[in-house]
Amino acid sequence: MTATTTPVTSASASWWKNAVVYQIYPRSYADSNGDGIGDLTGICEHLDHIQALGADALWVSPVFRSPMADAGYDISDYCDIDPLFGTLADADRLIREAHARGLRILLDFVPNHTSDQHPWFIESRASRDNPRRDWYIWRDEPNDWRAALGAGSAWTWDDTTRQYYLHLFLPEQPDLNWRNPQVMQAMHDVLRFWLDRGVDGFRIDVAHCTGKDPTFANHPRCLAGEPLASFNDDPYSHEVLRGIRSLIDSYPGDRVLVGEVNIRSTASVVRYYGAGDELHMSFNFPPLDAPWDPVVFRTCIREVDKLMGPAEAWPTWVLSNHDNSRHRSRYDGSMRRARAAALLLLTLRGTPFIFQGEELGLEDAVIAAGQQVDPGGRDGCRAPLPWSSAAPHGWNGAAPWLPFAPDADTLSVESQLGDNTSMLHWYRQLLQARRASPALRLGDWEELPSPPEVLTYRRRHGDDERIVCINFADSAMPTDLPGAWQVQLATQPGRTGRAFDGVVLEEQGLLLAPARSGQ
Ligand code: GLC
Ligand code: CA
Repeated sequence: MTATTTPVTSASASWWKNAVVYQIYPRSYADSNGDGIGDLTGICEHLDHIQALGADALWVSPVFRSPMADAGYDISDYCDIDPLFGTLADADRLIREAHARGLRILLDFVPNHTSDQHPWFIESRASRDNPRRDWYIWRDEPNDWRAALGAGSAWTWDDTTRQYYLHLFLPEQPDLNWRNPQVMQAMHDVLRFWLDRGVDGFRIDVAHCTGKDPTFANHPRCLAGEPLASFNDDPYSHEVLRGIRSLIDSYPGDRVLVGEVNIRSTASVVRYYGAGDELHMSFNFPPLDAPWDPVVFRTCIREVDKLMGPAEAWPTWVLSNHDNSRHRSRYDGSMRRARAAALLLLTLRGTPFIFQGEELGLEDAVIAAGQQVDPGGRDGCRAPLPWSSAAPHGWNGAAPWLPFAPDADTLSVESQLGDNTSMLHWYRQLLQARRASPALRLGDWEELPSPPEVLTYRRRHGDDERIVCINFADSAMPTDLPGAWQVQLATQPGRTGRAFDGVVLEEQGLLLAPARSGQ
């Protein structure tokens, strides 16, 4: 049975439109048994951090049985927990304890590929006439498709059965053949397994990859060296999503699908919402690729407004995740920019996703040559969270699987709790402001005229209104606003509660509320 969760809302909209989602990367969140690798019990023991932050839901990156060629995105049993992370009973406990705190929980569903150690693939590769042969994609001749993660060709030769199999990622991650109805059935059973245990939905890994061009035509972008996974966009993926959506909709409660449509084009991403019968939400990564530049950000945000608004596709906002350099690192290590970026993330129209550690202002860890774990070179953003100020920062026992990010002492949760100007407090203030304002959660978004260096927008819902100004420039900028406003929150201290005087300081972000009469 699912425990009842405390609704966050605003009765008028689904919980996930009102929500802020916190991404947990389990290996690096918290370690309960001293083996240097985070685990499910570690998450249970530190749920209060997420609750105090003010998030409404968590998405947990894969914890299923896996040989860990791709840190758990290569799954050998979808219906069991890898011993590294704990047991099924621990997963049930996490679902229960999250719900008891009013937190929803999303698991990571990886439909495109299994591990090469999954029993299905072991059977499939055993012989050409094995009943599971067609569960994967086998061909006599390869084409020019490239794999992601620097893995070269997307085809690997199998000497036993003398054919090539397809893998859009590592050779250890063979792609499932979703055109085979038995595959679809088996994967739907996986979803049921977890829905029955009470999860509130799924983040769907590379949701745009399950369908492939049935003609296996060569593609010039692959020939030029790009992996197919970064632009694969076959119509059949939509059919796969429609099947998953109708399964999800047959469950009680407001369960949700968030897709990782990792095509760097908002126009393509919008199509994965279907006619309200595919994803509830999709990631949209152009803002994650954006440098700290007002023109690039403005363009990305306008694009979302222009394309998603009319399609009634509810946007998401993401600046960091486990696959990309952390945004503070991408913004030249600037804390000031990271604070302004958090204001942006949490006040745009749509559901924001926070990647664990960004609320601490972490940068990427420096990974020495011999310390590299990920074949895709993504270790830097995956460093363990520093809980306490003194080393080993709450990771008692074996040294953690990756080194800590720089300044783990001063950026630890413990240090930041004692400092009300810290990044952690800034995130908490922003989440609180968002929770209290229907305009910030659900309101319209409208850009206001401002100098090119300053991004200014208004959010409005009924009587509730806010204005956000973000100055990307290194010097103070004048900004004229209609009406009288006061500073509700500012990235630098000293202005909160004061009337807005028409100036946004260098790289400053301001959240403005209508001035109370008499001020
Ligand atoms: C997604 C995941 C990434 C993984 C890949 C293959 O992009 O976020 O971590 O390597 O899919 O599963
Ligand atoms: Ca552990």
